[in-house]
Amino acid sequence: MTTAAINPKIGTTMKSLVYHGPGQKAWEDKPYPSIKESGDAIVRITTSTICGTDLHIMKGDVPTVTDGRILGHEGIGVVEQVGSGVTEFHVGDKVIISCVTACTKCDFCRKGMYSHCRTGGWILGNTIDGTQAEYVRIPHADGSLYHFPDGGDEEALVMLSDILPTGFECGVLNGQVKPGDTVAIVGAGPVGLAVLLTAQFYSPAAIYVIDLDDNRLAVAKKFGATTVINSSDGKAVERVLELTGGAGVDVAIEAVGIGATFDICQEIVAAGGRLANVGVHGKPVMLHLEKLWSHNIALTTRLVDTVTLPMLLKIVLSGKLQPSKLATHRFALNDIQKAYEIFGNAAKESALKVILTNK
Ligand SMILES: NC(=O)c1ccc[n+]([C@@H]2O[C@H](COP(=O)([O-])OP(=O)(O)OC[C@H]3O[C@@H](n4cnc5c(N)ncnc54)[C@H](O)[C@@H]3O)[C@@H](O)[C@H]2O)c1
Ligand SMILES: [Zn+2]
Ligand SMILES: [Zn+2]
Repeated sequence: MTTAAINPKIGTTMKSLVYHGPGQKAWEDKPYPSIKESGDAIVRITTSTICGTDLHIMKGDVPTVTDGRILGHEGIGVVEQVGSGVTEFHVGDKVIISCVTACTKCDFCRKGMYSHCRTGGWILGNTIDGTQAEYVRIPHADGSLYHFPDGGDEEALVMLSDILPTGFECGVLNGQVKPGDTVAIVGAGPVGLAVLLTAQFYSPAAIYVIDLDDNRLAVAKKFGATTVINSSDGKAVERVLELTGGAGVDVAIEAVGIGATFDICQEIVAAGGRLANVGVHGKPVMLHLEKLWSHNIALTTRLVDTVTLPMLLKIVLSGKLQPSKLATHRFALNDIQKAYEIFGNAAKESALKVILTNK
């Protein structure tokens, strides 16, 4: 039996969001993806969403994304076809797609650093076609897909593809948030809010959230921020120092990806503190070693590994973490251009995560 006989969609086309250089994208026809390696699976997307990183890509901040690439690295779907080497997933299984692809066998994977997998890492919607499409090819399916639990909520669980593990791993774990710590999160986008939600596992004494968008700050307050600070007056540093008796914060978490917010973090991190960078940066930033060399701080960077996805899934299923609160707008997948407009004008639209559904 030929593969084409198994899957009649081979040779047909599907709709997808295609990047055509900074500021240029189109909802257009692309070939239905086919199995290339024995570990691949083809997944029909049922729910997808847009990440702050996609906005960076659209600005031209991520040069590995080239003309013709289908965007998107988050999604829930149903397995349509599997390669001969896939053992953990079968046709018809509903799955959570990790934004990071992991062979689980290479040296980096065996250290738990899936983001640097020799034949994977963050490739979806970056160096290979992504999830903002009707179908997607997932390499190393056994290491990159997770079974969707019975009765799960797609809107909540799509946050496990990227933003919850990102906030938790790159922000909370790398920042080593501890009970009693004072934490500042700069950036109250979905990722900054994921940091806020997961930092509370550790009972920090205070969490200050800084952003320019009053709506997102109001959400942060509802999600447990002790104090929110609108930094548009340029006084965020002053305010944090005031709140901490001049000491600064134990953990400063950068969740925007620009120099201005990295600078705020450098100025508010206390002696002995940690500065955890989460944001994707398209441009160099100034590292103020003339101040920080003697400040006993630790600076961390991280591309999310999604190694904590199974643990976070359990917490979501327990009801103790409710990421569906991050979903503010809903669109059919073929209205994705409108969804980008809304997510790109988040302040005006009061938007957090936009949910894209492929019925
Ligand atoms: N390290 C990783 O693995 C990883 C994974 C996913 C996302 N990210 C990055 O995390 C960052 C946040 O993602 P998101 O989806 O929340 O993005 P987003 O664009 O929705 O949110 C960014 C927030 O920053 C705020 N902001 C912009 N300029 C500011 C300024 N000067 N001062 C204060 N606040 C400012 C905006 O108002 C917005 O609320 C992005 O850089 C994204 O690329 C990193
Ligand atoms: Zn992302
Ligand atoms: Zn690997």
